Amino acid sequence: TNNHLRHVESMASLPSGAGKISHLNAVILGEALASEEDDLVFPSDDFSRQALIPSPQKYLEMYRRSIEDPAGFWSDIASEFYWKQRWQDHVYSENLDVRNGNVKIEWFKGGITNICYNCLDRNIEAGLADKIALYWEANEPGIDASLTYSQLLQRVCQLANYLKAIGVKKGDAVIIYLPMLLELPITMLACARIGAVHSVVFAGFSSESLAQRIVDCKPKAVITCNAVKRGPKTINLKDIVDAALVESAKDGVSVDVCLTYENQLAMKRQDTKWQEGRDIWWEDVVPKYPTTCDVEWVDAEDPLFLLYTSGSTGKPKGVLHTTGGYMVYTATTFKYAFDYKPTDVYWCTADCGWITGHSYVTYGPMLNGAKIVLFEGNLTILKHAILFQHALDVSIDSYIFTCYMQAPNYPHPGRCWDIVDKYKVTIFYTAPTLHVKRCSRKSLRVLGSVGEPINPSAWRWFFNVVGDSRCPISDTWWQTETGGFMITPLPGAWPQKPGSATFPFFGVQPVIVDEKGVEIEGECSGYLCVKSSWPGAFRTLYGDHERYETTYFKPFPGYYFTGDGCSRDKDGYHWLTGRVDDVINVSGHRIGTAEVESALVSHPQCAEAAVVGVEHEIKGQGIYAFVTLVEGVSYSEELRKSLILTVRNQIGAFAAPDKIHWAPGLPKTRSGKIMRRILRKIASRQLDELGDTSTLAEPGVVDQLIALADC
Ligand code: WT7
Repeated sequence: TNNHLRHVESMASLPSGAGKISHLNAVILGEALASEEDDLVFPSDDFSRQALIPSPQKYLEMYRRSIEDPAGFWSDIASEFYWKQRWQDHVYSENLDVRNGNVKIEWFKGGITNICYNCLDRNIEAGLADKIALYWEANEPGIDASLTYSQLLQRVCQLANYLKAIGVKKGDAVIIYLPMLLELPITMLACARIGAVHSVVFAGFSSESLAQRIVDCKPKAVITCNAVKRGPKTINLKDIVDAALVESAKDGVSVDVCLTYENQLAMKRQDTKWQEGRDIWWEDVVPKYPTTCDVEWVDAEDPLFLLYTSGSTGKPKGVLHTTGGYMVYTATTFKYAFDYKPTDVYWCTADCGWITGHSYVTYGPMLNGAKIVLFEGNLTILKHAILFQHALDVSIDSYIFTCYMQAPNYPHPGRCWDIVDKYKVTIFYTAPTLHVKRCSRKSLRVLGSVGEPINPSAWRWFFNVVGDSRCPISDTWWQTETGGFMITPLPGAWPQKPGSATFPFFGVQPVIVDEKGVEIEGECSGYLCVKSSWPGAFRTLYGDHERYETTYFKPFPGYYFTGDGCSRDKDGYHWLTGRVDDVINVSGHRIGTAEVESALVSHPQCAEAAVVGVEHEIKGQGIYAFVTLVEGVSYSEELRKSLILTVRNQIGAFAAPDKIHWAPGLPKTRSGKIMRRILRKIASRQLDELGDTSTLAEPGVVDQLIALADC
């Protein structure tokens, strides 16, 4: 520790950098560090010595270049990939300021490449043909599989050939509704290989949510499987797809092909409902195609995928990522934030249905030629539950099976540590669970966390218990929209502060602004924005560029607005404080209050609904719904259940409200606007902090709501 401190202190004599990055220099002032020493956790000398970024100086040197010369910095990195043709003239061009015309971001425009080629063919040519690309671990212990890089390429090519044969072309959308089978990353890569745009829908979404996405992107094909096991339960996915296809047809969008993988571990084909002509068994067609397939070369700015995410209003947004910048950014963030070495075995427990599974199960690690563990049981969504299980004497079983259908503790609570030991995982990106002592976890060297602020005590437990005080923690702050990590520790480079995501990644300029959009310097807190683009940034919302500008670039002109609050301490460390908009973060996943509200009001007996987030000891935030019923209907337990069922059916089980609060009236201003500030206080029972209620149209409704709080 002292060695490291001296090392950092010696940097105080470095010349300070340009004004815009001066806050970063604050941290290298020995004085500032010394006074905060108690809060700092230093990487061991052994770790730092072998780290890609072994010191603050190295970070600062690279960060400074990435800001002062982004074109040079990123084109050097991009040159390590295969480009059929190099990008033209400008490495990037951007306009993030709505006052200067439409928002536009382009990286490596004119560069011709293919991300599947860079993940597979390029690595195989570099000698990784026989290296394991994917280890697959089934829900059921004892069942597993693996694919080397060359085997994976063959599987990808067969599917790519099939897709071409049924007429899927460059630019066409393909919806993927699959659980964590090998076929999921295979399908993503096959789409990328032929230039088709994949849109993975997490296989926990309901048929209605799936239908909504089908209607929005009009896919050429839907790829799914008949069923999946979640713990001891069998979930019939094909039934959900069938219902979604009926729904979307009503909206005029019909899908010609539903390619269905027969997941024999869960259900036999004879038990699967079938529509001749439309439905095709994967196993009947795909293996017949050749194991090589020419690549469709695409422009760096051609779309790679759409991923729907919740916003504060309206229907889900189709976040669009393009090829070149996303490729360079996910590969680079993966490499540095996890201090990746070719000998590592990497396991990210996220499902490919979320952005984490796109950037850090599939593309980022594969571009680095990593050995990747894929686990059929999804854990990330339960991050919060797992993190706090140790602190609260609660059982999460019912929570898993009723809300998420996930089974991290199947068949026993130490399952994930068994997997760590079995594959000798060295980099583990998830959240910790109980019962760690019975397994060795000796192989671990880096731990990662994502999705929500991690509080200092949970951080220390993760660090001390799971990592035996040996493994740096990468608390990665980012979003579906950002494509990759934005604020993250680089293991070995910096002393860490438990609960802080630390410093920006290369090329990222976070700024904290006040309500007026004025940038605040030094120690402060406010709204987190980003100045200027980075290669992994999303380029638009599919089919709605105006909503893209309104949501992200108009609130604080000149900046990308993240929707998060953030503070920066005197040493320049960043502390994320959660969403500042009407988005709820439940167990690290985003749910828009408006979506839950519109599901509730679709119930024939619900007249109006207002949904707010409330602190939840297991999930981080819980969903709290105020509902007004139609005239003449009285509230009952039965109605409560049926309201919750409506939300489960329309969005998915994970969006089910934790609490329904019957509200004969809602607090509104005279102009009819619901005062959510008051609802949040009532939901969290902070009744002495209701503030001024005199501007309400009917002040009496507040007392009425309080009286009904626990009914
Ligand atoms: C929102 C983005 C990015 C993958 C998972 C969720 C919150 C994310 C952190 C973190 C504090 C975090 C933010 C953000 N968030 N990572 N390390 N510390 N908060 O992706 O569904 O797009 O949600 O998750 O509030 O805005 P997402």
